[in-house]
Amino acid sequence: MHAYRCSALVVVAAALTIATGPAFAQDEKREIEKYQKMIAEGSPVELFELEGEGLWKKKQGPKNASLEQCDLGLGAGVVKGAFVNLPRYFKDTDRVEDLESRLLTCMMTLQGRSREEATKRTFGNADKPSEMEYLVAFVAGESRGSPIAISTAHPKESAAYELGRKLFFYRSGAWDFSCASCHGEEGKRIRMQELPVLSLPAGARPAYSTWPAYRVSNSQMKSMQWRLNDCYRQMRFPEPGFASDATIALTMFLGVTANDEPYRGPGTKR
Ligand code: HEC
Repeated sequence: MHAYRCSALVVVAAALTIATGPAFAQDEKREIEKYQKMIAEGSPVELFELEGEGLWKKKQGPKNASLEQCDLGLGAGVVKGAFVNLPRYFKDTDRVEDLESRLLTCMMTLQGRSREEATKRTFGNADKPSEMEYLVAFVAGESRGSPIAISTAHPKESAAYELGRKLFFYRSGAWDFSCASCHGEEGKRIRMQELPVLSLPAGARPAYSTWPAYRVSNSQMKSMQWRLNDCYRQMRFPEPGFASDATIALTMFLGVTANDEPYRGPGTKR
C-alpha cells in the first residue's frame, strides 16, 4: 500500500513539479515571503468586502428581503465576530453549518429563494464574481482581528469535527490520495506553493486564518468551499456538492485545528 502511494506521488511530482524537503533553500523561502508581501499590498480585498456589504443589504428574492436579519450564530443581524465561530450548530436547521451553507439557508428562509436558484453560480470568474464570493468576503472581513473560536461542545459539532478528520486522512480515487498525501508532511511544495501540514496547528493556523482569499493569479475572490473543491479536483475525486456535509466537516476540522489564531482574512494568495 505504502509503495503504491509513493509511486502515485511520483506521478504527481512529475506532473506538478513537487519539490520536497531540505533542498528547499532558505533564501528561496525569503523570496517567496517577499513576493507574498508584495501581492498583499496591492490587493483589492476591500472592494469585494464593500460589494458584499451591498449585497447583504440588497432586497431580493420572492420575499423581496435583504440578508440583514440573517442569524450567523450571534443573533439575527449580528455580523461582527460571527465568522470566527463558524462552522457551528444551528438549532433552526438542526445542522452544523459553515459560512457558505448558513448564507444559503438565509437566502432560502429570509429571501424565499430556492436552493437551485441560490446555488446556480456559487463560483465566479474574473469578469463576474459570484454573489456568494462577495458575501463571504464581507462577513469574514467583519471578524478581522478576532481569534478563531470554533466550538465542538454540541454532539453534532464534535461529530462534524470527527468526520472532517476522517475525510482528511481518507484515501481513495484513481491515485489513492487523501488530503494528507499533499498536506501531511513538512516541507512539501508544488511550484511556488508551500503545502502546509493542515492537520497540525502550525500549518492550519496561517492557512485557515486567511481564507476566503483573493487570488492574484486569476484575479478572483475565492471561498473555502472553492478551495476544497479545487483540491478534490487535484485528487481526481468527484467535485463535492455545494454546502455538503463533507465540505462543512472538513472546514470544521481545519478551523478547530486553527483555533485561537487571530483571523487575518480575507487574505491574498499568489
Ligand atoms: C495533489 C495535491 C493536493 C491534495 C491531495 C490536496 N491539496 Fe490542498 N492544496 C494543494 C495545493 C497545490 C494548494 C495551494 C494552491 C495554491 O496556492 O495555488 C493547496 C491549498 C490548500 C489549502 C489552502 C492553504 C493555504 O495556505 O492557503 C487548503 C485549506 C487545502 N489545500 C485543503 C485541502 C484539503 C482539505 C484536501 C483534501 C480534501 C486537500 N487540500 C488535498 C494541493 C493538494
